Amino acid sequence: MRMTGNTILITGGTSGIGRALAEAFHDRGNRVIITGRRLSLLEEIAADRPGLVGLPLDLDDPSSISKLANDVRACFPELNMLIANAGISRSEDMTAEGWDVSDAQAIIETNILGILRATAAFLPLLKTQKAAAIMATSSNLAFIPRADFPTYCASKAFLHSWLQSLRHQLRNIPVEVLELSPPYVQTELTGSHQVTDPRAIPVDAYVAEVMQLLETGRHPRGEVLVERDRARRSAEREGRYDDVFAAINPA
Ligand SMILES: NC(=O)c1ccc[n+]([C@@H]2O[C@H](COP(=O)([O-])OP(=O)(O)OC[C@H]3O[C@@H](n4cnc5c(N)ncnc54)[C@H](OP(=O)(O)O)[C@@H]3O)[C@@H](O)[C@H]2O)c1
Repeated sequence: MRMTGNTILITGGTSGIGRALAEAFHDRGNRVIITGRRLSLLEEIAADRPGLVGLPLDLDDPSSISKLANDVRACFPELNMLIANAGISRSEDMTAEGWDVSDAQAIIETNILGILRATAAFLPLLKTQKAAAIMATSSNLAFIPRADFPTYCASKAFLHSWLQSLRHQLRNIPVEVLELSPPYVQTELTGSHQVTDPRAIPVDAYVAEVMQLLETGRHPRGEVLVERDRARRSAEREGRYDDVFAAINPA
């Protein structure tokens, strides 16, 4: 992946991993467009960084994506990279009285359909560029689920599978397909407690390692895995799946 001189659109660029990626790519001389629903954050982040642009996007609303795609085609026809990073996470207790599928529906809408919609909206433009890339954020929970986040983990397993098919279908087109599978990172994904949870990696350290992997091209099969991801990724292949599942899902 080219690391400078790109025009990059990042979904979920208002906070956490997406914001840190936006800043890291901006620091390396890329034009960066961040998107999200929180307009005040879009403005605040863009105000601090000349050349970084904030545009509103609600991935749950197909008309919002169409509008964004039209605006980007008109104003940034050179767009050559999509980082489909936005996502939400909710725990679900399927044994609870009155459990229903509303949380599952919200997760599927944003984490699955949101990524598919963003890809469908921007792939036609990316296909016209000489060097293009799509990087989507799954999770290391795609490889082994945490049972208290059932639909979240399944949504990331869906992406892990779907990205392999996308990569294969694009094999003769110069659009690289990468999968970012973060471990537990200090963001507000599950609430404010996560930002200071010592078991999670600080977001800047995580993104610094990701940028190194991208710069050196160390992402076999298109999988961008930091050191902490690798044991979980290879657990099934190495016969450790049941042990890791038991460790993250205590009886
Ligand atoms: N942090 C972790 O431990 C971890 C681990 C593995 C994977 N991940 C994945 O990393 C990605 C980024 O999460 P994060 O940890 O950085 O959490 P975060 O700080 O909560 O970021 C989530 C981002 O997604 C955006 N977003 C959510 N719903 C959206 C919607 N309907 N339309 C448009 N944008 C939406 C949010 O922007 P607005 O609120 O402004 O819309 C926000 O910028 C997610 O896909 C997450 O699943 C995180």
